[in-house]
Amino acid sequence: MSLTISNEKVFVGSIIHTNESGELIIIDHGAIYIDTDSGKICNIIVNPKSDDIKNKNVTVLSGSQFLIPGFIDCHIHAVQLPNLGIGYDKKLLEWLETYTFPLERKYVDESFAKRVFNTVVRQTIKQGTTTACYFASLYSKASLILGQEALSIGQRAFIGKLSMNEKRSDNYYESTEDSIKNISKFIQDLDNLNSPLIKSIITPRFALSCDMTLMKELGTLAKEKNLRIQTHVSENLDEIQAVKNKFPKHSSYTAVYDAAGLLTNKTVLAHGIYLSDDEIALLKIRNTAVIHCPLSNTCLKSGLCDVQRFKRGGLKIGLGSDVSGGPSYSILDSIRSTLQLSNHLSFIKDNYESLSYKDVFHMATLGGAAALAIDDQVGNFKVDKEFDALVVDTDIAEGLLNNLQQCTLEERFQKFIYSGDDRNIIEVYVRGRKVK
Ligand code: GUN
Ligand code: FE
Repeated sequence: MSLTISNEKVFVGSIIHTNESGELIIIDHGAIYIDTDSGKICNIIVNPKSDDIKNKNVTVLSGSQFLIPGFIDCHIHAVQLPNLGIGYDKKLLEWLETYTFPLERKYVDESFAKRVFNTVVRQTIKQGTTTACYFASLYSKASLILGQEALSIGQRAFIGKLSMNEKRSDNYYESTEDSIKNISKFIQDLDNLNSPLIKSIITPRFALSCDMTLMKELGTLAKEKNLRIQTHVSENLDEIQAVKNKFPKHSSYTAVYDAAGLLTNKTVLAHGIYLSDDEIALLKIRNTAVIHCPLSNTCLKSGLCDVQRFKRGGLKIGLGSDVSGGPSYSILDSIRSTLQLSNHLSFIKDNYESLSYKDVFHMATLGGAAALAIDDQVGNFKVDKEFDALVVDTDIAEGLLNNLQQCTLEERFQKFIYSGDDRNIIEVYVRGRKVK
């Protein structure tokens, strides 16, 4: 008599994901076996027979449901959630001064930090974000609280304590000495959480917030500790001019970061709207990723970002909500914004091929995982990868997607991408653990 093995769980039903080449893979009927101790996928069977799932702890998905990999938000400012949807009368530099920095200074209040970060983690998970790469706070205590919230709620998260040492009259900066001391302590404190899901990421805010000395220190620290790096690049024309004025000896915005040793194969750069061909070529050499933030680029009127150029340049590309430059923390919204923007570009550019929903779904999952250098762990379904997944149901009673006509699985997936919302995301798993 065979017994049910208690540390194994099996999902049986339709499965949709992408491969390394970005191709969409649709499995009508499959089984994914998860070792619930490690959270890893231990077997995948296409067209399983009844014997394959006999005596197992099985969840059978209904005909209107399918599994997809969890969404990856490669760029989100946790501290900015309270400003969601406000302040779009200003462009980047004025927006930062008027709305963003005043809010961010409030995070000296740790109870405020805990309340906001608990909301950020719960709400993003509800929208299907299984991995978030966060800009946290300038303040170490608040940044640590974000790590604790992600840990206790169960999200996979990179937590970036911000580094900013350019003097400001409102005191919203750290001295170079404090900056280095505080980031080292923060990395240690986050390590002490001792979770495989929570990692620190070196986070110089952008070239206008840090001097070269600090950026070089951060580059060295990232190398010594093998840490990821995140920052902003080439988002807004006034910002780019200011970077030129501040670093006149460097040939480009990207060259400034390169001189500091900040461009690695574990660096993610948000925006990149105005990157030149030479800058894209340099990023390719460094194997540095670009994070596309279409909602923010539109709301802050930063510009039209041509993702096809990054693709042609062979760059890794992820998606970022860029809350609260972007007015939504749903990666589905970022997917749609990317698709719409790409269509708009096709109206005004000769020979421009719009991105397909398949391309953008890849960016939201395995593409983002590659950008963050976690594609050996998550991003699609493969034996030995960790099970970060969403159960999607396209036939929920109160939703928009009641099947009024028969649709193929691919059509139902397409409906979810273009017209679905969090109500269709009925379950969320991170490392095999159910978090919604
Ligand atoms: N550049 C520097 N800081 C920020 C920020 O908070 N949001 C955006 N969108 N760009 C930035
Ligand atoms: Fe940002």
